Amino acid sequence: MTITRFLTGITTSGTPHLGNYVGSIRPAVRASLTPGVESFYFLADYHALIKIDEPARIQRSTLEIAASWLAAGLDPERVTFYRQSDIPEIPELTWFLTCVTGKGVLNRAHAYKASVDKNTATGVDPDSDVTAGLFMYPVLMGADILMFNAHKVPVGRDQIQHIEMARDMAHSFNHRYGEHFVPPQAEIEESVATLPGLDGRKMSKSYDNTIPLFASREQLKKLIAGIVTDSRAPGEPKETEGSALFQIYQAFASAEETESLRKAYAEGISWGDAKQTLFERIDREIAPMRERYQYLMDNPGEVEAMLLAGAAKARAIATPFMTRLRHAVGLRTLSTGVEKSKAKATKTAGASFKQYREKDGKFYFKLTDAKGNVLLQSLGLESPQTAGKSIALLQQQGSDALDSLKDALEPITDVQAVQAALEAIKAA
Ligand code: TRP
Repeated sequence: MTITRFLTGITTSGTPHLGNYVGSIRPAVRASLTPGVESFYFLADYHALIKIDEPARIQRSTLEIAASWLAAGLDPERVTFYRQSDIPEIPELTWFLTCVTGKGVLNRAHAYKASVDKNTATGVDPDSDVTAGLFMYPVLMGADILMFNAHKVPVGRDQIQHIEMARDMAHSFNHRYGEHFVPPQAEIEESVATLPGLDGRKMSKSYDNTIPLFASREQLKKLIAGIVTDSRAPGEPKETEGSALFQIYQAFASAEETESLRKAYAEGISWGDAKQTLFERIDREIAPMRERYQYLMDNPGEVEAMLLAGAAKARAIATPFMTRLRHAVGLRTLSTGVEKSKAKATKTAGASFKQYREKDGKFYFKLTDAKGNVLLQSLGLESPQTAGKSIALLQQQGSDALDSLKDALEPITDVQAVQAALEAIKAA
């Protein structure tokens, strides 16, 4: 059986809520039980440093998230469950990837760009309050993924760009140093709808509308009582469409249970009774885990031991892999003989242009090397003539044409490879 390796990280910046449970914890625990799947789950505490400067909060969040995943049924014997900062190879790999990642590519990362756009809009310096950590976020994430050569990375839609960047890093590194990395793919759970929060918007810490996963029974009941509803009186039929209460119920209930609540809505169930139904349904699923969660929260030493055991498992892969990568890039011992430096191999032979049209109706071209790795990628152009002219210019002038075409091109990751390929094409 071919094994598919899944990997995902959880930033240790908050307390898990029902949205995290439905959207990530529950599907991940289920997936980890599937035959043929090898799972890596880790606490992304280096990532937490990017947004949080309260040490106690990071420590507490680390414990809460670990305890939540374990209480929800993650089996640390079966999966590799670890803390990012226990793997020193990850920051080391981050540096290797930093050196093959175009700065222009990082300029386009959504999170960084959003901060810059906000600053620009308010008239302050574009990089005001932007740390280099935020800028480098995608590279650290690339190292998380490539360190273990994960095939699939289950993430929310907001993270797709980061996975694409990790793919590009894998290609750039492989292009220079040989095949070491598997380009990963984002795995988006289409069936998992985002859970609404107390106010009907997406449940999210930033909206302050969450229900903590391990609220006590009393707290859970109180919070559910606060879910927004409309003002229809008992006996009046209610709409399921747009009802946060109904949507949350649906995320926990079976198809039959959902149908019977739909009927109750039509028959005019009171909001009080509907909330009681929701409370009981959630509590039925969570109550058995709550005890385990509380036990782990009261015994952090046990969680620590599990995480350290997970780190040992992870490092059994990371340490030898890093040794291989150090050698590949030329960080080598001097005591076993020193290689003569060869002229750079003509990896550029066989590079060619391709022109095509995309679903968006626009015209594109790209330059790929012999293996099909993309060296140069155009943006969407209005006509095939524009694409054709750009290609002709590059063929005739080689890399001298790059500057005049830069508004029509994606940022270049591997400038040296592009230049070499263009020079080879021009000479041919
Ligand atoms: N950036 C991810 C998030 O905010 C967390 C994360 C860090 C991650 N490293 C990762 C997710 C590697 C998947 C793979 O959700």
